[in-house]
Amino acid sequence: MEKTIEQIHQEALNELEAASEAEAVQELSVRYLGRKGVITSFLRNISKLPPENRPEAGKKANETKKALDKLFKDALKRLERIAADTSDYIDVSLPGRTLLAGSLHPITQITGLICEIFTNLGFDIVEGPEVETDYYNFEALNIPKNHPARDMQDTFYISDNIVLRTHTSPVQIRTMEKQTPPVRIIAPGKVYRCDSDLTHTPMFNQVEGLLVDENVSFGDLKGTLTTFVHRMFDDRISLRFRPSFFPFTEPSAEVDILCVMCRGKGCRVCSQTGWIEVLGAGMVHPALFENVGYDTSRFTGFAFGMGVERIAMLKYGIDDIRKYFDNDLRFLRQF
Ligand code: DAH
Repeated sequence: MEKTIEQIHQEALNELEAASEAEAVQELSVRYLGRKGVITSFLRNISKLPPENRPEAGKKANETKKALDKLFKDALKRLERIAADTSDYIDVSLPGRTLLAGSLHPITQITGLICEIFTNLGFDIVEGPEVETDYYNFEALNIPKNHPARDMQDTFYISDNIVLRTHTSPVQIRTMEKQTPPVRIIAPGKVYRCDSDLTHTPMFNQVEGLLVDENVSFGDLKGTLTTFVHRMFDDRISLRFRPSFFPFTEPSAEVDILCVMCRGKGCRVCSQTGWIEVLGAGMVHPALFENVGYDTSRFTGFAFGMGVERIAMLKYGIDDIRKYFDNDLRFLRQF
């Protein structure tokens, strides 16, 4: 006999280890344990061994046969189970999963557009704090304590002297304190008022504008705002300046634009007037220049402030200001 039963056993184990499919194990089982198999012929050939070796060889061969039979059966079961289980497989024919890409909030987009239009006109962008002192929010803007003008804005007070800014106008003062004319800035940002109904939310966004130089006139203000409105909407949207009052400008104006929905015919959006108010503006009051140490005999300037939500509503045809803050993806995905 060429091979010992130990050698045959070891070879069978090696082959079993290499077998990765049920068919291969089946083939091994037949080849080793089948009627004409390696072990069967070993047993048959035992008679050729010297008599004293026969019992030992026979015993070992039978043990090996039993052990291999169990190993083959176990391996077969295991491989069949793996073949039936598809959970580990990657189906390369499946379509890929789409990654949900976010987008900028409509208010952010319109703020960006406003900033772009004014930076193209030579304005710089500056920012100021949302928690402001009474001085910057009111005093320095010519709104003294106990003055009725304070009632124009319902204020969130943090303490007697600290407020959530009610408008972006304090950035005018902060900017002028830091630099000398010429000043050409816009200041976008959030503002807060103790006010909540169909057309007001306690937080909203404004963009402030300020230009100070020699020989600045109301005509410059009109030209700048007209250019802005034409670029934001279109060239046929005309502007109307109505006399108004703001403590920090003199003269002051409220600026209406032709209703972008009905183009002046009268509709629900413009309350049948054909016009929509979008801005407050005016020539900077000399009291502000005095507060920041500018020479009032040399410099003049204009300022304006607009509500971003309002502009965005007109630009996109949105009818309810609260939609901006509901976080409804069906609404937000449209922009
Ligand atoms: N700060 C004003 C408000 O929130 C808006 C405003 C009006 C700003 C006139 C200005 C301005 O700069 O000149 O109601």
